[in-house]
Amino acid sequence: MSDYFTIRWIDGCVRMIDQRRLPHEVCYLDFYDVAGVAGAIRDMVIRGAPAIGAAAGFGLALAAVKSEAVTCHDLWSDLQHAGETLMRSRPTAVNLTWAVNRILQKIHRTTWVEVSELRAEVIKEALAIAAEDAQINRQMAKYGLEVVPQKARIIHHCNTGSLATVDYGTALGVIRAAHENGRNVFVYVDETRPRLQGARLTAWELQQLGIPYTVIADGASGYFMRQGKIDLCFVGCDRVASNGDTANKIGTYNLALAAYAHGIPFYVVGPTSTVDLQLPSGEEIPIENRPASEITWVEGVRIAPAGADASNPAFDITPAQFITAIITEKGIAVPPYQESLARLCGVL
Ligand code: MRU
Repeated sequence: MSDYFTIRWIDGCVRMIDQRRLPHEVCYLDFYDVAGVAGAIRDMVIRGAPAIGAAAGFGLALAAVKSEAVTCHDLWSDLQHAGETLMRSRPTAVNLTWAVNRILQKIHRTTWVEVSELRAEVIKEALAIAAEDAQINRQMAKYGLEVVPQKARIIHHCNTGSLATVDYGTALGVIRAAHENGRNVFVYVDETRPRLQGARLTAWELQQLGIPYTVIADGASGYFMRQGKIDLCFVGCDRVASNGDTANKIGTYNLALAAYAHGIPFYVVGPTSTVDLQLPSGEEIPIENRPASEITWVEGVRIAPAGADASNPAFDITPAQFITAIITEKGIAVPPYQESLARLCGVL
């Protein structure tokens, strides 16, 4: 366990570390209703696909607690509305929809007797989603260890650590497990423009874990690869289509292309809840466009001329052909992904 936590349910309130203020300040914000949680996801108080999935679960739990419904039927429709609000907050990570649907389906299957029982069921399922996430990450890390040699210089994009999950992390979880198992790992941390999740959050986490690292500009990855300084790439994922095409933080695609050109293995790490078997390819994954000001301003300082235009897609798609393997909590999927992902997700 880390000294800090990403998200917790505390008696009818959801507490989250405010990731916008890290690493300068460690502070927590409390949310008491679904609109607050949806706003926290949109504004990136909390971010990272598994963490926002857990937040969505707790958002529904808050909706259940706050609802004034006196019949189970009315509570059910309040929860459906709450689910829609949460799913609209960020479109790319499928974990949001996955968590909302998991809870709604669970209570749909429950025999409704009392409103209070239904409320309790929603809270129980939201807590289960959060608890399972922490276990799943450790399980993924075990599989991930299989591909990390005794000495490894690893490049990592965005933040996929404890902060992006309920605990431990996905891609960063594998790196952490390698370090904890005595492997000699060194991390090249992509700064990850424009929100700087690498420079701000990944560097902060690695520092606390005592894992050696250096922060590099996103555009420097090819330079270090050409110098022979990178052995492996590890990234997370926000949605994986059934053919293995993967949406992740903008810049992941460039990194994968550079790795491919240099013959460096490129691993995606993510739970099976991030796999969207409904989608045939990455073409169908919705990409979130965020405000232009995230590009033209850095930490409250304008860096582009007033009135400058800017485009800010928050994610890109890495085609499956550039991905060496996808590491999940159920095992490692290798090409052809259509088959291996379906098997790991239990539909083959
Ligand atoms: O915009 P963010 O910070 O939510 O983007 C996060 C990422 O792209 C992560 O790589 C992904 O969610 C996996 S986190 C375990």
